[in-house]
Amino acid sequence: MFVLGIETSCDETAAAIVEDGERILSNVVASQVLTHEKYGGVVPELASREHLKKVTPVVEEACQRAGLRLDQVDGIAVTQGPGLIGSLLVGVVYGKALAVALDKPLVGVNHLEGHIHSAWLENKMSRGAGGEDVPEAEFPNVTLVVSGGHTSLFYVQADNLQERRTPIFSYEELGRTRDDAAGEAFDKVAKLLALGYPGGPVIDKLARHGDASAVKFGTIRMKGNPYDFSFSGLKTAVLYRVRGGELAEEAARRREWRKDTDHPSVDQIRSHCSQATLDLIASFQESVVTDLLGRTIHAADTRCVSSVFVTGGVACNSLLRQRFAKAAASSGLHVFFPSPGLSTDNAAMIAAAGYFRLTAGERAGLPLTAHAAWPLGVPSKAKVAEV
Ligand code: KG4
Ligand code: ZN
Repeated sequence: MFVLGIETSCDETAAAIVEDGERILSNVVASQVLTHEKYGGVVPELASREHLKKVTPVVEEACQRAGLRLDQVDGIAVTQGPGLIGSLLVGVVYGKALAVALDKPLVGVNHLEGHIHSAWLENKMSRGAGGEDVPEAEFPNVTLVVSGGHTSLFYVQADNLQERRTPIFSYEELGRTRDDAAGEAFDKVAKLLALGYPGGPVIDKLARHGDASAVKFGTIRMKGNPYDFSFSGLKTAVLYRVRGGELAEEAARRREWRKDTDHPSVDQIRSHCSQATLDLIASFQESVVTDLLGRTIHAADTRCVSSVFVTGGVACNSLLRQRFAKAAASSGLHVFFPSPGLSTDNAAMIAAAGYFRLTAGERAGLPLTAHAAWPLGVPSKAKVAEV
C-alpha cells in the first residue's frame, strides 16, 4: 500500500511516499530557513505563504522520485495538528482536495505521532546490514519528542503488533514542557547571542569548542510531575549572564558583522566568538541535555521499559546522542534515534503513522480540519491526579 504523506505544520513543506508503513520511496522537504532566518524565528504568515507556493511542486517531486503517478497512491495522510494554524490549513485543504479529486482514502495524523513513528520506521530490524543481531525497537517504550515546538514524554504501547497486520497504538503523555520547548530555547539563546537561525545546529557545533563546566546553571527543578520540563528559566539565566556586559557587546558586534556576511560557516562564526561565549553555550547545552536525559531515563525506569525512542529536531544534537548512548550502555536500555533527516520535520513519518490508521479502517471525511493545539493520546493518571 502506497501512502502519500503531507506535512506543513511549521516551516517545512514536506511530502513523501511510504510503502506499507516501512519502505520510504521518497521523502522531499522544502525548507523555509532562508525566509525566516533574518527574523531569528518562524514568522507564521510568511510560513503559510511559502507552503502555498511549495506544496504542489513538493508533492509532484515526491511522486516523481517514488516512480509513481498520483493516481497510483492508495491513501493520503496529512498532518492535522498541532502547529501553526495557517500552515496546517494549507496541507489539510490540499490533502482533502487530492483525496476528493483522486477518490482516495484520507486520514489526519497528529504531528507528534508522526515523530514517534519516525523513530520506529528505521529501527524495526533485528538484523543489521551485515546480518548481525541488533536490538529491535520495542513496545511498550518511552518516547521523548524534543523539537522547536514540543518537548514531551510519552509511554507508547502497540497492541496486535505480532498477531495482526494492524497494530493499534496508544499514547499516554507522561509530561511536557510548561513553557519553552528545548529547541525553542536553543533558538532563543542563539538569537540573543547573534549566532544564527536555527540555533540548535550552530550551538551544537560551537559548543564542542567550549568548556561545559565553565558556567554552573544548576539543576532544573520541577514541582509536581517529574516528567514535565521547563527551559525558560535556563534561557533567562543565559540572558542575565549576557545582558549589559562584555558578552552583549560582543553579540552586538557579531550582529553587525552578520549583516554583511551571507550564510557564514560555523568556523567563521566561531572566529567571531570569545572563549567566554563558547563556554556559555557549552554550559547551556550541557544543562538542556542533562535535563532531557535525566527525566527520560527516570520515566523508562519507572515504566520498566527496555526501549527508549528519542525524536524531533533536537534529537539531532550530538551531545544528546552521546549521552543517551552512554546511559543505554550502562543501564541495559536500548535507545533508538531516527537518522537526522527523519528527526526533523518530514512527511515520511506522517505517511508511516497514517498507514496504520488507514489499514485499521480509519477514514477522514470532508469535515477534517486543522487543530493548532491537539494533544496526542491521554494524559497519564498521575498528571490527571495532579490537576
Ligand atoms: O522537529 P523540528 O524540525 O521542528 C519542530 O517540530 O519544531 O525541530 C526544529 C528544532 C529547532 O528548534 C532547531 O534549533 C532544533 O530542532 N535542532 C537542534 C539541532 N538540530 C535541530 N537542536 C539542538 N541540536 C541540534 N543539532
Ligand atoms: Zn516536529
